[in-house]
Amino acid sequence: MKVPLLDLKPQYQMLKNEIEPAVLELMANQTFVLGPTVQTFEMDIASYCHVNHAVGVSSGTDALICSLMALGIGPGDEVILPTFTFFATAGAVARIGAIPVFVDIDPETYNIDVNKMEEAITDQTRAIIPVHLYGQMAPMAEIMAVATKHELVVIEDACQSIGASQNGQFPGELGTTACLSFYPSKNLAGFGDGGMILCQEESVDRRCRHMRMHGEDQRYYHSMVGGNFRLDSLQALVLNIKLKHLDGWAAKRQEHAAIYDELLGSTVKTPVISEGNISVYNQYVIRSDRRDALQKYLGEKEIGAAIYYPVPLHLQKCFAYLDGQEGDCPVAEQACKEVLALPVFPDLTHEQIEYVASCIKDF
Ligand SMILES: Cc1ncc(COP(=O)(O)O)c(C=O)c1O
Repeated sequence: MKVPLLDLKPQYQMLKNEIEPAVLELMANQTFVLGPTVQTFEMDIASYCHVNHAVGVSSGTDALICSLMALGIGPGDEVILPTFTFFATAGAVARIGAIPVFVDIDPETYNIDVNKMEEAITDQTRAIIPVHLYGQMAPMAEIMAVATKHELVVIEDACQSIGASQNGQFPGELGTTACLSFYPSKNLAGFGDGGMILCQEESVDRRCRHMRMHGEDQRYYHSMVGGNFRLDSLQALVLNIKLKHLDGWAAKRQEHAAIYDELLGSTVKTPVISEGNISVYNQYVIRSDRRDALQKYLGEKEIGAAIYYPVPLHLQKCFAYLDGQEGDCPVAEQACKEVLALPVFPDLTHEQIEYVASCIKDF
């Protein structure tokens, strides 16, 4: 039995009759960038995410860069983030000339270790980027308490966690901004790249919109240097059709995760969801001390399984100038050797999940 890590074709088949005429209408209208389609999507996503404002941008990476620029972070500023995340979290910081400061993670949730986060604060620290990894939120109440004490802004990297919650609160409700990605592997998957900045304050919304359009005040007059961080109308159109189904898809992911938990709980380490958290399982990640052999074995059984992430960011070659050493973040370094993501996309069948679990047990 073949079990891919992700298959979006069934999702498309289900929505084809709604998406195709809408795309044809957009083509007839020839409105491609921002415009009313993006505005409608921004309003709908703000409401879905329980925040006051949403700014459509070109990717999750650009949501991070645009947030950092809009909040006035720049060369020489230190920005604290977990070392165990997708590269873009740190790449965005480095791209604007700021200094990424890497912190170790909690061994159970893989999210930032809040105690180590506070120890990393210096006089140069301006911001914290907690990452809500795999679909589960980092401990926002504790993070906000530290940020408030030290007067730091908080940019939530919620690229993997749209719809996740923590004690009834959602990404973007507490942080200064939260960043979403609509890359096709995400729970809300576009037809290409796309992203969103969420925020509560009108002034932050305004600054993000300003940066999204090259820092333009009025046509061809610029008071600041921003970028082209605009979202395409086509993406907004498709994403807004899909948004209506997002809760149903998250429920499916949670159902699949519960089956894996039940079948695999005594064989491998299964995900730990903190009390008060509801995960949307962008990834279902197990741990094994024979991870590489297990991945190879699953590959032979035609099961897709992936490693998010094999190298912690403090040991990436491009950050050698920051002098990160093996042993600096031991929890993340160990996780990099042991984590393995299993297929968990909504359209998986129970038979496929049972097959994956039985292959892991046989191994
Ligand atoms: C944690 C995290 N941050 C940032 C990004 C960047 O998003 P994008 O690929 O849309 O630029 C991603 C997704 O790829 C991600 O998983």
